[in-house]
Amino acid sequence: MIKTILPATSLKGVISLPPDKSISQRAAIFSLLHEGISEIRNYSQAEDPQSALSCVEQLGAEVEQDGNTIRIKGTGRNGIKNPVKDLDCGNSGTAMRLLSGVVVGVGIQARLCGDESLSSRTMTRIIEPLEAMGAHVSARNSKTAPLLISRSEALKPMDFELPIPSAQLKSCILLAGLFGEEETKVVEKIPSRDHTERLLGLSIEEENGAKIISSSLQDTIPNQSYTIPGDFSAAAFWLVAGCIVPNSEIRLQGMGLNPTRNALLGILQEMGADITIENERMEGTEPVGDVVVRTSDLKATEIPKHKIPNCIDELPILAVAMLFAEGTSEISGAEELRHKETDRIMAIAEMLKVVGANFKEKEDGLIIQGDPEFTFNSATFKSFHDHRIAMASAILALKGNSGSQTLDAECAAVSYPGFWDDLKALQY
Ligand code: S3P
Repeated sequence: MIKTILPATSLKGVISLPPDKSISQRAAIFSLLHEGISEIRNYSQAEDPQSALSCVEQLGAEVEQDGNTIRIKGTGRNGIKNPVKDLDCGNSGTAMRLLSGVVVGVGIQARLCGDESLSSRTMTRIIEPLEAMGAHVSARNSKTAPLLISRSEALKPMDFELPIPSAQLKSCILLAGLFGEEETKVVEKIPSRDHTERLLGLSIEEENGAKIISSSLQDTIPNQSYTIPGDFSAAAFWLVAGCIVPNSEIRLQGMGLNPTRNALLGILQEMGADITIENERMEGTEPVGDVVVRTSDLKATEIPKHKIPNCIDELPILAVAMLFAEGTSEISGAEELRHKETDRIMAIAEMLKVVGANFKEKEDGLIIQGDPEFTFNSATFKSFHDHRIAMASAILALKGNSGSQTLDAECAAVSYPGFWDDLKALQY
């Protein structure tokens, strides 16, 4: 699908954000582990959470959908079944990595597969520690999906220091650890999103500035009955669009404000963004608020390595903000961005090249020369079948001086099926 986006003179309106993708998938997986019924309100209809849901069904959960509310009858840790078919994780790295942890913990045999993009992403980061816990994992070229996972020896709980700040890796190991008599401990020196710890209520200690999270069979799995907050990573597109398009005022209802996820908010505010947060509250274990963003004069910024995990998914749209900010901006220490749904440093660079921006691609980031008056003639953007690149290019297209196109625009549905309708609604 090709989407044509016209230049915008104003964006005004109220957006009901799509439910958080990371939290939805965890809620589905943790409901399987809970023996009994969980009721998840506002479960995401996006492709990744739907993939996670069908995997969970194959592992024995009974799922009933009633609009955006789902009821899941979980099997508990003891009742999880051998899947008869492949667990198809679609485009979802979160589903593949978290479910691999569950499969190893239970000790069943399962084959996990995914689409072309997921099948090209490295799984070595989970394969090595899961093998150390007693699993046998066979992977294509020993690194990529499909993964055939089994375990013939006893589960070996372990102490594991995260070599990279990855919430998927952290969650994978903690989920396997939930099946061990002895504790598994994960040491996290650089914080990554903490939804797993929050939703499972896992025990956390602090030691020399590091966080140590433990899991074992002794942990009770709470039911997952709550409302999923609005996705901060989806809100990010409107936060930036509201700043860079003239005469704009966008209200975002029920936006997730988890402090391990929302660095973009502080970054934009430091750049001069007019963003106000109202009505802060808790939805289950997660903080949320309503947010208003208005047209702003942005100034350049530098994003160092330690901030990257907290804004990793927002970097494509942050690069767009940087292009319209006065001065030279720089993103450093973001080499992990090359291992997402596509190589996102390359994809951002392609997007900037198409509009004739003044920028430099680095191995670990980008240097972008911003200009509040920057504009370009109609452009054709490749999405690389990556939802976040498709949506970032659409926001950039609003600043052209004639219509632009985004190719393979349907991939936005991986996290935000209503994106194109919401974009249209804000322009009228
Ligand atoms: C996610 C963690 C992050 C993020 C991804 C979702 C999660 O990935 O980029 O979109 O749900 O845990 P990594 O754990 O690979 O950093």
